[in-house]
Amino acid sequence: MNKTMKAVLLDRPTEAENVELCQIPIPEVKPGWVLVRIKAFGMNHSEQILRLNEIRAGYIRKPIIPGIECVGEIADPSDSNFTAGQKVVALMGGMGRSFHGSYAEYALLPIHHVFAVESALSWTDMAAIPETYFTAWGSLFECLCLKPGDTLLIRGATCALGCAAIQIAKAIGCTVVATTHKESKLPLLTQADNAVLDTGRLSDTLNGVTKALELVGPKTLPDTLCCVEKGGIVCNTGILGGVYTLNGFDPIKDIPNGVYLTGFFSNYPTEKTMRDIFEFLDKHSLKPAVGASFAFEQVKDACMALDSGSVNGKIVVTL
Ligand SMILES: NC(=O)c1ccc[n+]([C@@H]2O[C@H](COP(=O)([O-])OP(=O)(O)OC[C@H]3O[C@@H](n4cnc5c(N)ncnc54)[C@H](OP(=O)(O)O)[C@@H]3O)[C@@H](O)[C@H]2O)c1
Repeated sequence: MNKTMKAVLLDRPTEAENVELCQIPIPEVKPGWVLVRIKAFGMNHSEQILRLNEIRAGYIRKPIIPGIECVGEIADPSDSNFTAGQKVVALMGGMGRSFHGSYAEYALLPIHHVFAVESALSWTDMAAIPETYFTAWGSLFECLCLKPGDTLLIRGATCALGCAAIQIAKAIGCTVVATTHKESKLPLLTQADNAVLDTGRLSDTLNGVTKALELVGPKTLPDTLCCVEKGGIVCNTGILGGVYTLNGFDPIKDIPNGVYLTGFFSNYPTEKTMRDIFEFLDKHSLKPAVGASFAFEQVKDACMALDSGSVNGKIVVTL
């Protein structure tokens, strides 16, 4: 095996056009950690936030290989029960923030955030699943208790997470109302029952919404709370609107009586959930929406595509 690998290494705020590959040593295994040969990785809005700004924060290890998820094969199982060559997905738990992530040929990852999966999908399609579908799954089922017959509002639905949520909700028999803030993107929401242009205020016009997945975030959350019926649930999962907290939020007046507010954080994936997701996709013949795929040597272009918001669906980098 080679002793070095190609990777993206960041130590300061970096515009996409300045992202480049460098050659660094392949990490050595240690107890509790396995070495994964990366086959592909999906890109995420949170990696853009890290690269452009969050990297300044003291809690980010520097220099850091970014990337919060990947799919690949076990290159060295270390002291785990994995076997060499086994197909795995890995995500979160500090990946790409407190320890090196997936923008690399290999990643040394903690055993409890690496999951064996069986799938006939290509590496590129598989790479669009872990973080996006785990987040959609957790938001819809753990937080929103989504059931057949629910009318689900997805605010900010053109992102990869929104596309996944539409697929899952439709597959179980929900009515889906999906929004975008750009009129030109309404045709992308054809899988939803109702595609709506988000003007910032929807509560005056929507009726019958029982659950809401908020992906724009605190910027529109107060209005979303007023969109659901009594007994309904709102889950704040995204921050696409660029507003991260609710300053001056008054829970007594801002949450309508009998409406429930929750939030989802994808930091704690489990083997069972990942298995359930892959089985669900297989059972319903669902394939993730890959918006664009890039070779590893084009990782700079992949980052530029992420920053431009021009890609609809998941951006995947395949090694
Ligand atoms: N809570 C968690 O654990 C968790 C986990 C994963 C993701 N997330 C969050 O979920 C959101 C989606 O993530 P992702 O990786 O799926 O994103 P993504 O695919 O990178 O989506 C970005 C897309 O969202 C659209 N967008 C940007 N600003 C918007 C706005 N104000 N209103 C509506 N749409 C807007 C952009 O298109 P246009 O602007 O052209 O419409 C862009 O195409 C992000 O905020 C991410 O941080 C949270």
